[in-house]
Amino acid sequence: MAGNSSGPRDTWGSKAAFILAAAGSAVGLGNIWGFPTVAAQNGGGAFLLVYLLCVVLIGAPVMLAELAIGRHTQRNPVGAFRALAPGSAWVAVGALGVVAGVVILSFYSVIAGWTIAYIFKTITGAFGPGADTAAIFAGVAANPTSAISYHLLFMAITILVVVGGVRHGIERWTKVLMPGLAALLLLLVFRAVTLSGAGEGLAFYLRPDFSQINGSVFLAAAGQAFFSLSLGMGAMITYGSYISKKDDLASSALYVTAFDTAIAVFAGLLIFPTLFHAGLEPGAGGPGMVFVVLTSLLGTIPPAPWGGTIFGTMFFALLFIAALTSSISLLEVGTAYMVDEKGMSRKRAAWILGITAFVLGIPSALANGAVSWLSSLPGIGTDFLSFLFAVFGQYALVIGALFISIFTAWIWGTRKAAEEVRSTDGKFPLETVWVFLIRFLCPIAIILILINLVQSLM
Ligand code: TRP
Repeated sequence: MAGNSSGPRDTWGSKAAFILAAAGSAVGLGNIWGFPTVAAQNGGGAFLLVYLLCVVLIGAPVMLAELAIGRHTQRNPVGAFRALAPGSAWVAVGALGVVAGVVILSFYSVIAGWTIAYIFKTITGAFGPGADTAAIFAGVAANPTSAISYHLLFMAITILVVVGGVRHGIERWTKVLMPGLAALLLLLVFRAVTLSGAGEGLAFYLRPDFSQINGSVFLAAAGQAFFSLSLGMGAMITYGSYISKKDDLASSALYVTAFDTAIAVFAGLLIFPTLFHAGLEPGAGGPGMVFVVLTSLLGTIPPAPWGGTIFGTMFFALLFIAALTSSISLLEVGTAYMVDEKGMSRKRAAWILGITAFVLGIPSALANGAVSWLSSLPGIGTDFLSFLFAVFGQYALVIGALFISIFTAWIWGTRKAAEEVRSTDGKFPLETVWVFLIRFLCPIAIILILINLVQSLM
């Protein structure tokens, strides 16, 4: 089992298995639910452009930094910082990651719970032509018993997989998921772009309106990029710690980044044409927007109603598995910490942290119509789930990524980090580019983004 103090550390079965598992962590609700939601609220095309810039210039280099730290130290984030900078305050960055992981898991599981509910809804043919998809969403998410039960169910499944350990739990799931999700997404994109009104949606999504680009778009884009790539809280440090010394880090980081980004871009191609076809307002939707919009597509898939039932059920089943392979990595970070640093058994650690995340997630489960003040926080205006997503799913990750890049560049040092990357076969083709990005561009860009955030709060 992974990271047990007795016996050697568990590793991935092969490089392909690692890439699949890391891609499994990255691809999840962040791509299909988060990306279109944040893009819609930040001007569509303008957001897409800034997002892609953030992925290439900040996301990919930080991904490689995390993987290098993880493989070099063979530790969870807290242990990794402790090993590379003993006795320093850097362990706090690892600790922030452990906390962020549990908090993100708390609301992630709520949304993932909706995907389980939607598997049952679609399979029973709830989304025929003309179905009131907003009312169906409210029936799932605004009903406290339903919202909390599905949240509980999803969390229990996550805990059980993490208890099983790295090789047997995570790998097995991811191998089946990835190709299936990509293929189904493409099919649905074909349907979406051929709808009436799709052109308007494509224009909103693909034609940047440069006047919309401002500091808050950058913050949203950077935060979303880190969330989607599972960066900024040590998940990739933890996954990197299970990579064998034989596997090439640089190309793994690139594959995972490219795959994750492609899935998010496809999700946009699916959601925006459908949204405009249905005559909805892009900026208006909260956490339920994607569920309401996606299911309105199902009624348009021939032959009605079977087409929508079949594709819809497959889609939500795959989305559920995608969410599961991501939630596993959220729970794995804290679990690896408790096992490595506190000598706890994997089983006990996963249950304690998972139950904590379940309890923390209850207010998020009630924030989508079930309890009115949680659904629109006094003085803040957004619902509790969106608030946690912003604070822990975006700002905390931006700050975590800042520290990780400064640490890699200036404390551990790019020379040693590059040695770790090169240790496989002596090659690191984009080394100079990476060194420049991780030393200068990443920290400076993130600091500018944060200054802008602080100013906007004042
Ligand atoms: N990246 C996942 C998604 O897009 C969510 C996730 C998993 C995550 N592990 C993470 C986000 C670690 C931040 C950090 O759905």
